Amino acid sequence: MTDNNTIMNFSDIVKLSELETIYFNSGCKPIEEDIGEKLSDREPLNRRSFSYLRQLNMRDNYVDDFAFQWEHLTGAFRKYSGIHLECFNRFGISPDNMKGKICLDAGSGEGRLAGICLGQADLVIGVELSEAIVQAANKFDTKKFIPIQASIDSMPIHNESVDFLFCWGVLHHSKYPHLSLKEMWRVLKPGGELYIWVYAITEFMLRRSLLSHHFSKFNVNEMYEIADLLTDTAHLTKTTSLGFSNLLMDDLSFSIKTSKEFTRLLMFDGLGPDYHYLLGKNWFEHQISKLSSVSSYDIQEVPWTVVRITKT
Ligand SMILES: C[S@@+](CC[C@H](N)C(=O)[O-])C[C@H]1O[C@@H](n2cnc3c(N)ncnc32)[C@H](O)[C@@H]1O
Repeated sequence: MTDNNTIMNFSDIVKLSELETIYFNSGCKPIEEDIGEKLSDREPLNRRSFSYLRQLNMRDNYVDDFAFQWEHLTGAFRKYSGIHLECFNRFGISPDNMKGKICLDAGSGEGRLAGICLGQADLVIGVELSEAIVQAANKFDTKKFIPIQASIDSMPIHNESVDFLFCWGVLHHSKYPHLSLKEMWRVLKPGGELYIWVYAITEFMLRRSLLSHHFSKFNVNEMYEIADLLTDTAHLTKTTSLGFSNLLMDDLSFSIKTSKEFTRLLMFDGLGPDYHYLLGKNWFEHQISKLSSVSSYDIQEVPWTVVRITKT
């Protein structure tokens, strides 16, 4: 990470009003396209003048897969506010822990978790690879939220500038998990805390990871059709032939949810992505041993993998 790529020095950021100037001077391009009508009736002083910041605009099957998912499949998912709060419970924290802090949501998707932090934190930065960043930007147009389209393995953010960083369900899907971890550590301030949630290593997940190797070769539309067909079949046979439905779920490593919409989303999300690493305790211990200034860490593996690392 060179200084040319950085966009801000958080230690300088006391007044939020200065943020935009700092961004405009950076190598990061401010995107203004979605500003306008959608934002016009909000309080002008608290609005950003740009929609989001873009370091890169990646388009490939992997990135499009996530963009499609957020754009077309997450309707039902968003409504379950309990699920989103539960993520913080699994980290063993409450959104109150973010009071007065600069937080980073690494791989923020459309911002469901960033949104929860916004009520507490001084500033929330959402870094997201896919076009889902546009949804996050439109949802939260306050200056307290900085949406950045970038990869978490190379973020346009200065060293040691974030108090609190969380990464939910992303590291196992990132192309270079070890680089992403190193990069998240780089931007964390001394005294800062880093929380990571990844898939647990179970037989179910192992099978899913092997299957996704094949499913990831489909483009988004093909994958959508497959997920749609399998969802219909699973929901139908649940009432007509439970044995078949169980077999299907078992073989393809998915579970039937309360609605077809939800089942389809999790099927698409579970089998579609290109990278589906299983990162366990040994992997994390090895990576953490390479980080400097680690004050303490915990790795929980059951029933899901949660990692907490603090910096001296
Ligand atoms: C399963 S979703 C989780 C999103 C969000 N953390 C949440 O819990 O709602 C994984 C997200 O990680 C993003 N992602 C994957 N690799 C990434 C990378 N290298 N940099 C930034 N985001 C990435 C995907 O685009 C996707 O939106």
